[in-house]
Amino acid sequence: MDMDILSLATCFLLIIFSKISNAVNMISPSDSLADGMKLVSNDGSFEMGFFTPGSSKNRYLGIWYGNIPMQSRTVVWVANRINPINDSTGLLKIETTGRVVLQGQNRTAVWSSTNSSTQGVGNPILQLLDSGNLVVRDANDGDHSENYLWQSFDYPTDTQLPGMKMGWDLRINLSRRLAAWKNPDDPSPGDLTYGIELQGNPELVIRQGSVKRYRSGLWNGDGFGGAPIYRSNQVFTYDFVWNEDEVYYIYFLKDKSVMSRVFLNQTKGVKERYTWKPNTQNWTLFTVHPDDSCDIYGPCGANGNCDTSKFPFCQCLKTFKPKSPERWNSSDWSQGCIHNKPLNCQGGDGFIRLQSVKTPDTPNSLVNKSMDLKECRARCLQNCSCMAYTTLNITGRGSGCAMWFGDLMDIKQYESNVQELYIRVSASESEELKSKHKMKHALIISTLLAVPLGLLVVVYYIRRSRGNLKDEDHNEDLELEVFELGTISRATDGFSSNNKLGQGDKTRCKVLDWAKRFQIICGIARGLLYLHQDSRLRIIHRDLKAGNVLLDSKMNPKISDFGLARTFGGDQTEANTNRVVGTYGYMAPEYAIDGLFSVKSDVFSFGILLLEIISATKNRGFSHPDHRGNLIEHAWRLWKKGKPLEVADNFLVDTGNESEILRCIHISLLCVQQHPEERPTMSLVVLMLGSENELPPPKQPGFLLQNSTPFEIDSSSGNHGLSSSKNEVTLSLLEPR
Ligand SMILES: *[C@@H]1O[C@H](CO)[C@@H](O)[C@H](O)[C@H]1NC(C)=O
Ligand SMILES: *[C@@H]1O[C@H](CO)[C@@H](O)[C@H](O)[C@H]1NC(C)=O
Ligand SMILES: *[C@@H]1O[C@H](CO)[C@@H](O)[C@H](O)[C@H]1NC(C)=O
Ligand SMILES: *[C@@H]1O[C@H](CO)[C@@H](O)[C@H](O)[C@H]1NC(C)=O
Ligand SMILES: *[C@@H]1O[C@H](CO)[C@@H](O)[C@H](O)[C@H]1NC(C)=O
Ligand SMILES: *[C@@H]1O[C@H](CO)[C@@H](O)[C@H](O)[C@H]1NC(C)=O
Ligand SMILES: *[C@@H]1O[C@H](CO)[C@@H](O)[C@H](O)[C@H]1NC(C)=O
Ligand SMILES: *[C@@H]1O[C@H](CO)[C@@H](O)[C@H](O)[C@H]1NC(C)=O
Ligand SMILES: *[C@@H]1O[C@H](CO)[C@@H](O)[C@H](O)[C@H]1NC(C)=O
Ligand SMILES: *[C@@H]1O[C@H](CO)[C@@H](O)[C@H](O)[C@H]1NC(C)=O
Repeated sequence: MDMDILSLATCFLLIIFSKISNAVNMISPSDSLADGMKLVSNDGSFEMGFFTPGSSKNRYLGIWYGNIPMQSRTVVWVANRINPINDSTGLLKIETTGRVVLQGQNRTAVWSSTNSSTQGVGNPILQLLDSGNLVVRDANDGDHSENYLWQSFDYPTDTQLPGMKMGWDLRINLSRRLAAWKNPDDPSPGDLTYGIELQGNPELVIRQGSVKRYRSGLWNGDGFGGAPIYRSNQVFTYDFVWNEDEVYYIYFLKDKSVMSRVFLNQTKGVKERYTWKPNTQNWTLFTVHPDDSCDIYGPCGANGNCDTSKFPFCQCLKTFKPKSPERWNSSDWSQGCIHNKPLNCQGGDGFIRLQSVKTPDTPNSLVNKSMDLKECRARCLQNCSCMAYTTLNITGRGSGCAMWFGDLMDIKQYESNVQELYIRVSASESEELKSKHKMKHALIISTLLAVPLGLLVVVYYIRRSRGNLKDEDHNEDLELEVFELGTISRATDGFSSNNKLGQGDKTRCKVLDWAKRFQIICGIARGLLYLHQDSRLRIIHRDLKAGNVLLDSKMNPKISDFGLARTFGGDQTEANTNRVVGTYGYMAPEYAIDGLFSVKSDVFSFGILLLEIISATKNRGFSHPDHRGNLIEHAWRLWKKGKPLEVADNFLVDTGNESEILRCIHISLLCVQQHPEERPTMSLVVLMLGSENELPPPKQPGFLLQNSTPFEIDSSSGNHGLSSSKNEVTLSLLEPR
């Protein structure tokens, strides 16, 4: 009886043992794996053994999914892909050095692992992990050691599994890349490959032979510019690691029970991601790259922008035109596009911003992780061949700099995508100007008032650029008051004394000489008159100041509200006084103190503005060594002393019409009288400006604001309300037309 139990127990143990030995996940130097045997990873996810693909007769050592029925066996890695065994003599071994060898007929090696780093291993084993990774490690290191002496994940075939790094170990010059099977019967490498290319910005690239087929676009810290939808998928997370040691792309499954793989299909010439559908027991296509006509590398040639929502999908980038219109017309995009207006590196180009694009490819691009966007722009502007730049890392507050040199290739337009790109254009095309049209124009006046030298520089800059352009370009060209200080500074050798008034190159002074300023003054006066009298509604602007006067390309002033992001066309004059805003320095005493406004408070503001234009000095913050008064007081003192012209900008004195300047000073003093009823109406002002009739003598103006702190108030939050004074007051609410 006892014996029976014992033999039964022995028998049972033997069965267990044989089961275990059938499903091992590792071999040591004393074992081998012959054709017909397999390694099975711990949880059965993956298996390794010998197989014959498709209609082939060859035997290969491979790794496949363990949980998928044999009839749809999916091989993810092949050892001897270029060296098949044509019978069942295959034998896999691990040597005591840790080197792994696959032997075929007559024990000749058909494949082996690299053995460079396997010296001095104590107890090497070859193990198939649940990730599908086949690794050599030292058994003495313990089961959880990730100190692999060799791993199949470093030598992928056509499949990227979760947790597998695609890319470079720069320390040992190892590139992990995929190469498709030649066909379903032959795992030897086809010419379709996929990996990270390090030139300039590292990117994932699919090539067919040596030809680029698809690029991922720049990694911007959040995703790839060329695969925007990836970020928010349900199946996997991914990352791009780029440091001194490594550059790689990796992904992980959100739900470990899901099976998902990326592989290259030579027949279709694409990279596909499939996920396993347990209920239908087959693989379902999840994503594919290239996905559409615009994913395919560079269909639109240099400086083209591929947009699948357009017909034809090849467009030139904004501010570019076809290099060969005939060919472009006949759907031959290969010649690409060229700038509408030639760049003028020396004169300072500008940039326009493209949104939702895949960043371009160029043989020459540079990245700098420590520069910010501003530095990036400045650096790009410095180099005449730098054609585009953008933020490298858009997450957080944005950091880093990517720059492109030469023609811009393979830009794709997306409907929405966080990626932006700034492309170099001639200053006159620059959007930086156009989008901030108003502000820039307003800046002219402000510059005139605040920085006379800066103004000259601008004038100089405008004239300089004009010199390079044909006649028909002049009008638009005058819009190139895109003068970020940097640009101006570059265009003028950093405000060098060469550009000072009255020295060198004299004609430049003419652009904003007295005649121009007088034109601007009269324009403002007429504009205000229009608001007060000629428009359908009577409008009181209440915030007339230099910053709210825009100049169009012909230096015609338009009155506007500073914050209104609109361009005014033609002779139209509009105001939006929905916002009740005033600015110290321009506010009439009765408005500042009592909140009373009228056409006459606008007249007061006009007077200040007039004085500012004449003197090229701001009332607000005006200071004079001899007294503490403001600009009005200064003008009044000089008037009383009989030297009114001294208030004028020095350079007007020789160039301008003295009597006209004097007349304007006189009018300005009338406009800033203390009491509203003592100020002329705008119609009277316009009359005064246009005639030579004698003007009434001014009384002492309202000096109210002389010591007020310069700051802007927004009285909409205050309680000034909409009080009125006298009959002529009308409320100023006007919808923008
Ligand atoms: C099998 O391969 C060996 C060596 O590669 C070769 O000599 C032999 O002819 C092959 N046999 C067949 C049936 O293809
Ligand atoms: C295999 O070994 C046998 C006997 O040594 C020899 O006759 C045969 O040519 C060898 N085959 C190959 C492919 O080396
Ligand atoms: C691998 O080891 C063999 C035998 O020791 C040696 O001949 C060969 O050069 C080694 N290969 C590499 C890549 O180190
Ligand atoms: C890196 O490997 C490539 C081939 O894979 C070779 O052309 C290149 O010279 C190697 N670079 C270094 C620094 O070893
Ligand atoms: C590639 O796609 C073709 C066409 O759909 C298909 O027949 C073939 O099996 C695919 N290749 C692989 C290796 O799955
Ligand atoms: C998967 O199986 C379902 C049902 O058998 C079938 O309708 C579907 O076309 C299959 N999908 C693929 C990609 O083979
Ligand atoms: C291009 O095509 C348009 C419309 O089809 C035509 O008007 C234009 O003349 C063509 N231009 C050239 C250069 O062929
Ligand atoms: C990156 O930019 C910083 C700041 O301009 C500069 O100091 C650094 O040298 C640059 N790095 C490279 C690699 O050009
Ligand atoms: C502009 O940048 C390119 C690419 O980095 C470089 O080859 C060239 O020397 C630079 N030119 C100047 C003037 O710095
Ligand atoms: C991008 O910037 C964020 C925020 O500054 C930082 O946490 C992240 O590591 C950066 N990513 C890369 C790839 O530099």
